[in-house]
Amino acid sequence: MIRVNEHYNKLQASYLFSDIAKRVNEFQAQNPDADVIRLGIGDVTRALAPAVVEGFRKGVDEMAADATFRGYGPEQGYDFLREAIAANDFQARGADIAADEIFVSDGAKCDSGNFQELFAQDIKIAIPDPVYPVYLDTNVMAGRTGAYADGRYQGIVYMDCLKENGFMPALPEEPVDLIYLCFPNNPTGATATKEELKVWVDYARENKALILFDAAYESFIRDESLPRSIYEVEGAREVAVEFRSFSKTAGFTGTRCGFTVVPKDCKVYTEDGSTASLHAMWNRRHTTKFNGVSYPVQKAAEAVYSEAGKVQVKAYIDAYLANAAIVRDTMTELGFDHVGGENSPYIWIDGKGRDSWEFFDLLLNKASVVCTPGGGFGRCGREYIRISAFNSLENVKTAMARVKDALK
Ligand code: MLT
Repeated sequence: MIRVNEHYNKLQASYLFSDIAKRVNEFQAQNPDADVIRLGIGDVTRALAPAVVEGFRKGVDEMAADATFRGYGPEQGYDFLREAIAANDFQARGADIAADEIFVSDGAKCDSGNFQELFAQDIKIAIPDPVYPVYLDTNVMAGRTGAYADGRYQGIVYMDCLKENGFMPALPEEPVDLIYLCFPNNPTGATATKEELKVWVDYARENKALILFDAAYESFIRDESLPRSIYEVEGAREVAVEFRSFSKTAGFTGTRCGFTVVPKDCKVYTEDGSTASLHAMWNRRHTTKFNGVSYPVQKAAEAVYSEAGKVQVKAYIDAYLANAAIVRDTMTELGFDHVGGENSPYIWIDGKGRDSWEFFDLLLNKASVVCTPGGGFGRCGREYIRISAFNSLENVKTAMARVKDALK
């Protein structure tokens, strides 16, 4: 008899963004003339930058001639891309990361979801609340979370991110082995200073723990004093893995490319307390289960680091940040407290006691604007909504004018 993985029964309904899409589709079916503006899922709307398209085309052209055609590539990614990443994203900022510590993949969602496979079943996991649902759901699927009651899994150590703590979680009160962190944060848009990250790095070193650091939104950081990588913090190489993505940096949500950094001196432990190489383990997993990102896509990603690519991609992000400023100004004018949107594409808005799904429905029904209900990210988000800056300037202006009318 083929039996199911019973842990799937503990998952809450469907994946958050599928739930939202379903509600929006129903609304659109009932209101075919409504011009729905989507500021929900963080999906980019601008075309790929010209330099990126040129890189992509070159890759396709090479695939079109026998002499330059490529079959299977290295699972970890081509050297040209790994070297460009190491030099530009890390070494240029004083972070000691080598090309062979970078594993190119089809995105940060898969990697941040898959990474937990490398760890024992009974480790203690600390997860922020609110949180990007992938970290939690993949551990539910793996059977590490225990039962669900009153909005929480009993086996997880939740780290509340609230207005009172500036949306920066405190160190867990009980010992934990694996810690998920994301800065700039999804969903709150909060950022972390080097000093704040150092507290976590020191904790991990003292407790033989590991940090899974999601830096998918690092390119939105405009405050030069903020770290873009956890490896800008001393000691992080031994205790942190970092996930990155070209999705939000360079508009690759539909093109698919990201990478994971696993430093060679990152320590994990066997049952008898001896050390094992996390780099070797992830390499084994990656080469077994993944066959690499397509050559043209890697050429497109490489072009992000060309002189023209850097300028164009920065301009794109500046445009999204300008949208974020409009959202923030509107919320301030309407008297809603909010965080994020300055070094992040997300604005996390306190609904003043309103339930987040009610707030979502109100904006959809009265303004035809889609946001993300904070409750979908965890119990601490139940009275918040997230608005994303990923849309055109015109749409964001229209959306905010409609939101003003709806909420006045
Ligand atoms: C989000 O809206 O939280 C993200 O777009 C989801 C993702 O990157 O998978």
